[in-house]
Amino acid sequence: KAPLRLGIAGLGTVGTGVIKIVQSKANLLAARTGRAVVVTAVSARSRAKDRGVDLSGYAWEDDPVALAQRDDVDVFVELMGGADGPAKAATEAALAMGKDVVTANKAMLAMHGNALAAQAEENGAVLRFEAAVAGGIPVVKALTEGLAGNTVTRIIGVMNGTCNYILTRMENEGLSYDEVFAAANALGYLEADPTLDVGGIDAGHKLALLAAIGFGTKVAFSDMVLEGIERITIDDIRQAADMGYKIKLLGVAQMTGRGLEQRMTPCLVPDTSPLGQLDGATNMVVLEGDEVGQIVLRGAGAGMGPTASAVMSDVLDIARDIRVTTFGMPVEMLETAKPAVAATP
Ligand code: NAP
Ligand code: HSE
Repeated sequence: KAPLRLGIAGLGTVGTGVIKIVQSKANLLAARTGRAVVVTAVSARSRAKDRGVDLSGYAWEDDPVALAQRDDVDVFVELMGGADGPAKAATEAALAMGKDVVTANKAMLAMHGNALAAQAEENGAVLRFEAAVAGGIPVVKALTEGLAGNTVTRIIGVMNGTCNYILTRMENEGLSYDEVFAAANALGYLEADPTLDVGGIDAGHKLALLAAIGFGTKVAFSDMVLEGIERITIDDIRQAADMGYKIKLLGVAQMTGRGLEQRMTPCLVPDTSPLGQLDGATNMVVLEGDEVGQIVLRGAGAGMGPTASAVMSDVLDIARDIRVTTFGMPVEMLETAKPAVAATP
């Protein structure tokens, strides 16, 4: 079989992680898929930057759209970020040519996922996003494949490692929100726009994507009840602890008699429960299905290795000709769910 040729746009934390896997595990990947997986071309803002990986064998494109359209690119791997701009333009360019796309970009999918998934289907391409939700935890695959025989009843989870890190250090060390926010910033945990993390928006994007798959509904991020952790004080945390609870930024999605409920808000959870015991920059997703019951997935929600691992799982599915639709069923079959509760204005 001919090699599967990747064009990677974005050579930051995740992009370089993907290149490291492709370069260091070439034989393993070929053995697992029956074909070589190679990078042919890359794109980033700065060509001069040393990224700690050897890029000498790859063509360079300044323009991600030109990268997506190259004849020697079979799969466009979008790892730049941003809901709009070059990420969306290049993804659309690839899909318009019928090229498969793998992305880690939850913001883009939460805002434009319905249209992009429809464009993929119209052009016979697949658009996959395992890395966009809960980093290294294969939760998209768990829903689209592992639980495909279930009616999903509920999805719960801690889906932003930065918020969990901040809340954990406030709890364990009695530090103020501002002190731990500064520490998270120094560690490079925060998104370029930190409001995405601490405002609950990043976690909300992820929950909206899981809800679409789980409940067979169109992505409806704007219907989510959303509140971040910026107003949580050390007093709130102490009062919760006195009652045997911890405060977590918790996502809950469920189909109710009134419609689809989607909430990403600070919640009290019993401190002895698995969610209560979840410390640091970790994620946990609890999936409930009518056949399987409850399953719990826990692991690294961010970082180079875990996120690149998730990108590669999508790339390798494509190499194996596993062509699952973006949200687990054709977009035209996804229902437009009535929101069960009014979204946060
Ligand atoms: P990052 O380290 O900031 O890297 C972004 C890369 O995109 C950089 O190489 C940058 O180029 C390039 N880029 C930005 N704008 C560009 C443009 N207009 N044209 C060409 N290249 C451009 O970001 P990251 O952490 O790897 O994240 C990438 C994506 O993965 C995002 O969607 C993010 O939300 C998602 N994600 C990240 C993580 C994580 O743990 N980091 C986890 C899950 C999902 P320069 O290097 O030249 O500036
Ligand atoms: N900022 C995100 C987090 C990165 O802290 O979970 C992974 O999506």
